[in-house]
Amino acid sequence: MRKKIIAGNWKMNMLPNEAIEMIQQLTDYVKDTENEVVLCVPYTDLFYALLTAQGTNIKIGAQNMHYEEKGAYTGEVSPKMLKSIGVEYVIIGHSERRQYFAETDETVNKKVKAAFANDLKPIVCVGETLEQREAGNAFDIITSQTEKALDGLSPEQAENTIIAYEPIWAIGTGKTATSEDANEACKKIREKISEIYGQNVANRVIIQYGGSMKPENAKELLQMSDIDGGLIGGASLKAETFEKIVNYNK
Ligand code: 13P
Repeated sequence: MRKKIIAGNWKMNMLPNEAIEMIQQLTDYVKDTENEVVLCVPYTDLFYALLTAQGTNIKIGAQNMHYEEKGAYTGEVSPKMLKSIGVEYVIIGHSERRQYFAETDETVNKKVKAAFANDLKPIVCVGETLEQREAGNAFDIITSQTEKALDGLSPEQAENTIIAYEPIWAIGTGKTATSEDANEACKKIREKISEIYGQNVANRVIIQYGGSMKPENAKELLQMSDIDGGLIGGASLKAETFEKIVNYNK
């Protein structure tokens, strides 16, 4: 049985005082869950979030990083810096970064390797646009993104890469993929991993769904055979909504 990982992606939201308050509220709600609880917060919240989450079962992640350890990259944050303060997870290749910040399959792959080199757990986002879906190319796009993200990884690293399937048309739009469509896409990703690394690795990889996941639809999505968790934007900003997703199986 794969463990479910329920991760919030706060994107560019939440000031430190809001982060502290949210995590304090969430702590009690999620303390008994068997699911892994992760909050990926802005850089400026990381330290506060880590301190507030200390001694709880809430894990903290970043939303991006550079792939180099240090150097003349003004404005960037390195994997080593994240690790040094106790960050555990990092989102890599979110579609907003691919779209607005020129993230490519190549930089995604470099960042995944850098994450493992620094003992960070990567959450790699893949997903198709509406046009790509309507043209019938969704599965080609997401399996190709997956293959390129994993390029050169050992089976053990591949197994520990979390993939988040986030159809771009479902992000922040209120439109959710049907549970069947989301599951089918996650299955295709798993099949691709099986093709490259074999069935055992594929069986262990965590594949999340993301895109307008909320308390009302979380249970149906998370009960599907190949959906092993969620990457949640809007509904992760409030403890009351996020905890309902974390506790979907209670
Ligand atoms: P929403 O849940 O707001 O649609 O965002 C999804 C997402 O992009 C998470 O990374």
